[in-house]
Amino acid sequence: MHPFAQYIDNVPDFPKSGILFRDVSPLLRQKFSETIDAMSDLFTPDEWAQVDHLVGIESRGFIFASALAYKHGKGFVKVRKPGKLPNVCATIAYGLEYGSDELQMQKGDSGKVIICDDLIATGGSMKAAADLCEQVGYEVVGLACLVDLKALNDFEWHGMRVRSVIQYED
Ligand code: PRP
Ligand code: MG
Repeated sequence: MHPFAQYIDNVPDFPKSGILFRDVSPLLRQKFSETIDAMSDLFTPDEWAQVDHLVGIESRGFIFASALAYKHGKGFVKVRKPGKLPNVCATIAYGLEYGSDELQMQKGDSGKVIICDDLIATGGSMKAAADLCEQVGYEVVGLACLVDLKALNDFEWHGMRVRSVIQYED
């Protein structure tokens, strides 16, 4: 298991019965720089060089996309839950591990983006965000998350797999 796993709390039956919640809060509190560096290392310097913006999925994705944008001198772009953004250009419905919702984006430009989130469970949020980015004009060149709950997905988007720091197989 990855050394970061000791800083992740495993919380049964949260937020709903039957869900094992992987709480990365202690990791962020105690090893934030190391966590961002590990996510940065998911991509090579050549790959980083071609990226224009980091896209964060509200809300926990904002933590990682904004820190990586700062680290690499890139722009930060938001994918938000409904009713939060003015001048919305595209809306998409998606399924969650525990529920469903919608995500929205403003009009983009022609930049290349990496989409970031804290965790991938079913992949519904990541797929919706990638589809949205494409709809508003971005080219998705990478998908990154801190934790991949592999037992809940075999995710790929247009042949692209999510890169992750920590994987749970069970
Ligand atoms: C959680 C998590 C991921 C998503 C993973 O977000 O932060 O974004 O679910 O699940 P999926 O792979 O099945 O889509 P959530 O929408 O619960 O809210 P938050 O980020 O605002 O806390
Ligand atoms: Mg989220």
